[in-house]
Amino acid sequence: MYRLLFVVITLLSVNLSIANTVTGTHGAVSTRSQIASDVGIAILEQGGNAADAAVAVGFALAVAYPSAGNIGGGGFFVLRMADGEVITLDARETAPLAASRDMYLDADGEVNRRLSMSTALSTGVPGSVAGLLALLERYGTLSREQVLEPAIRLAETGFELNEDLARQFTQNLRRMGSFPASIEIFSKNGTSYLAGDRWVQSDLAATLQRISDSGRDGFYAGRTADLLVAEMERNNGLISHADLIAYQPVWREAIHGTYRGYDIWSMPPASSGGVLLVQMLNMLEPHEIAEPGWGSQQASHLMIEAQKRAYADRARHLGDADFYPVPVAQLIGKGYAGQRFADFDPSSAKPSADIFAGSWPDEGTQTTHYSIMDSEGNAISVTTTLNSGYGNKMVVTDAGFLLNNEMGDFTPKVNTAGGYGLMGEEANLIAPGKRMLSSMTPTIVSEDGVNVLITGSPGGATIINTVFHVVVNFIDHRMGIADAVASPRFHHQWQPDSVRFEDGAFNTGVQRQLEAMGHSQVRSAGFGLGDANSISYDGETFTATSDPRNAGGASSY
Ligand code: DON
Repeated sequence: MYRLLFVVITLLSVNLSIANTVTGTHGAVSTRSQIASDVGIAILEQGGNAADAAVAVGFALAVAYPSAGNIGGGGFFVLRMADGEVITLDARETAPLAASRDMYLDADGEVNRRLSMSTALSTGVPGSVAGLLALLERYGTLSREQVLEPAIRLAETGFELNEDLARQFTQNLRRMGSFPASIEIFSKNGTSYLAGDRWVQSDLAATLQRISDSGRDGFYAGRTADLLVAEMERNNGLISHADLIAYQPVWREAIHGTYRGYDIWSMPPASSGGVLLVQMLNMLEPHEIAEPGWGSQQASHLMIEAQKRAYADRARHLGDADFYPVPVAQLIGKGYAGQRFADFDPSSAKPSADIFAGSWPDEGTQTTHYSIMDSEGNAISVTTTLNSGYGNKMVVTDAGFLLNNEMGDFTPKVNTAGGYGLMGEEANLIAPGKRMLSSMTPTIVSEDGVNVLITGSPGGATIINTVFHVVVNFIDHRMGIADAVASPRFHHQWQPDSVRFEDGAFNTGVQRQLEAMGHSQVRSAGFGLGDANSISYDGETFTATSDPRNAGGASSY
């Protein structure tokens, strides 16, 4: 009965076409998948709140956006509730108990990146399911069965693949060669799926049903856990039953900063996102951004110089704060930003101080961000990931879900670039049970106690800078959310000493001016930076926008 009602509600009231920017007065959801956004709105319409919708969307993305929506990975949640309470939930993966500091080094002490990215050894203990269920338990109003129902139905009955997903499957197929369960799911007996094909995921439906029936035991114990551990054993991975049972998501205090009168709420360690975002905004605040204007040499130079300094601090100071003393309060203080930016020279670039080599990642379909606001004034900002798109490409046989390769985000060796060319020192070395440092930056901005913006993004190292751009566009340049998200961005991560930009990120001539000031390697990124599915609220209307760089969709009502 409930199931029928749900289908009817969905069909009657949700705009089923793909929408990049939509408005509504009751609530809004923006995700990388129109199907998942529509699930979120259906839950809100049914009387659920933003937490219920966030959980339903999280599970729906695991079905409809397998590249990064997941139950085999991890993620972060930032909540600002109608009563003003702000809290975050850290559902980041942890290193298995059998992990060790030097596990990716070969006999010569060199880093073996294949091990840390493309094998069963790259998988951290998944956190997503525990996180979603903890969120539901603490802030949700609907039952577990209700919020899982849309995802189970979607996996069971399938859905029509769009061009975007069909292309992704084909691209990833060649890297799934050694994993028969992956080939089985992402192809028709080895032949590519085409747009328009119906895609059914029966094993995943059964796994989701076990979670619906038994809660966290449906994933971290019983059949699902047995299947996951068996997959690890077949492929020499480390995750054991003891790891799964021990996994706990952690509620943490949000990173809080202020910027030109707005409150900024974001993710603390194990992400570096919130700390760096607030640090960069603090460095900018004493300077004029709005007046020289978007894309100007002055504004671009300021932002690049802030990015360099913040990312250098990331390498030195950021890691899992449960394992390493991260000086969070100092790093996000206005005083520290003043000192750190004291050597800012408006007329010339400061070369990145160090010489460690980093490499630039290809942008892809990894990681995903979604934003939800409801009519009560609750806002939830969520970024989840398997790390690489489709994680380590390994589907757990008979359980139907992909495993992450998040262990690649640890620093494999001091002063060596880890994932995304990001440098690291002691703070982010591997230890059993430790969370690998993330850049995910789910963020909420409030003004006079009202949530006015939710944003976040995928993009590896570029994530924090994408969020930085959206916030500066929104606050300094007074852009509407669609423009704040769509406007071209640029990225500097300290090492390598290089600015990568999306075409159009600078006004005419500014690239040359930046080079003349000493900015080195000012180059086109060659790919879109980020996917910031965001929502703004002006006190009356929610405006949800899915990043036009990708084929996501927003819904509202
Ligand atoms: O947690 C992190 O920072 C990375 N594992 C995120 C990976 C990512 O965003 C890949 N994106 N396109």
